[in-house]
Amino acid sequence: MNLAVNNSSEKLYTNVYADAESASKKVAQDIADLIRSKAEKGENAVLGLATGSSPLKVYAELVRMHKEEGLSFKNVITFNLDEYYPMDPSSEHSYVYFMKKNLFDHVDINMENVNIPSGTIRRKEIEEYCATYEAKIKLHGGVDLQLLGIGRTGHIGFNEPPSNEKTLTRMVTLDPITRKDAAPGFGGLENVPTEAVTMGVGSILNAKKVIMMAWGESKAAIVNEMMNGEVSGQVPATYLQLHNNVAVFLDEGAAKELKTETLV
Ligand code: GLP
Repeated sequence: MNLAVNNSSEKLYTNVYADAESASKKVAQDIADLIRSKAEKGENAVLGLATGSSPLKVYAELVRMHKEEGLSFKNVITFNLDEYYPMDPSSEHSYVYFMKKNLFDHVDINMENVNIPSGTIRRKEIEEYCATYEAKIKLHGGVDLQLLGIGRTGHIGFNEPPSNEKTLTRMVTLDPITRKDAAPGFGGLENVPTEAVTMGVGSILNAKKVIMMAWGESKAAIVNEMMNGEVSGQVPATYLQLHNNVAVFLDEGAAKELKTETLV
């Protein structure tokens, strides 16, 4: 049974699935279609990638498609959203480690095509580094498809409230709620960095297509806010309402607070 429903009464195009697994398979299929259609034209697919638990099943499905269906990543260029600061790329807490473990080590991507904000840049060079990151995205023609999760503060990437729609890649201070959510993975709050380098809300809105994923009831309140709340820097994810090509993928739990009937 396909429970996917487009709920057009919300402000964002919404797909509600019975579970994260079936939704993630559909997201992975959309990514594979993009990669293959670009390859047929001799072009690169530029993917904006996210970390956290939300995209894990998508990455697992892409790895499966590579191994079992021959999906090649040779024409894929990636830009990750963010990285903790400071952060050694070899640390198991780094997003470099996360991406290798969950995707890059298992597919045929050319690691020279992988871009992840660095957590080791000297503080006084960060501004220039971030401008170069933005310029590199532009040089590749912009992000074709941006994957996103949402934090409990309403952040996308590490754009904590308040973050406006013009923000580009930059250094940010993490919200206490975000640090608390990350604490178990770091073995305690005191080990969670207080800062990060993140693509901005503006960088994200520049993507040609955005896929936002949220799973579980703990995301229900912030998902409702993102979809139906006033557009405001206090909930940075509400800026997605200003983008004309966003697809929101939810499981039943994450869709629980949406006003309208979403499952048939
Ligand atoms: C971190 C990441 C975000 C991610 C968020 C939600 O803060 N920087 O990009 O969206 O966590 O995480 P999860 O997907 O685990 O709920």
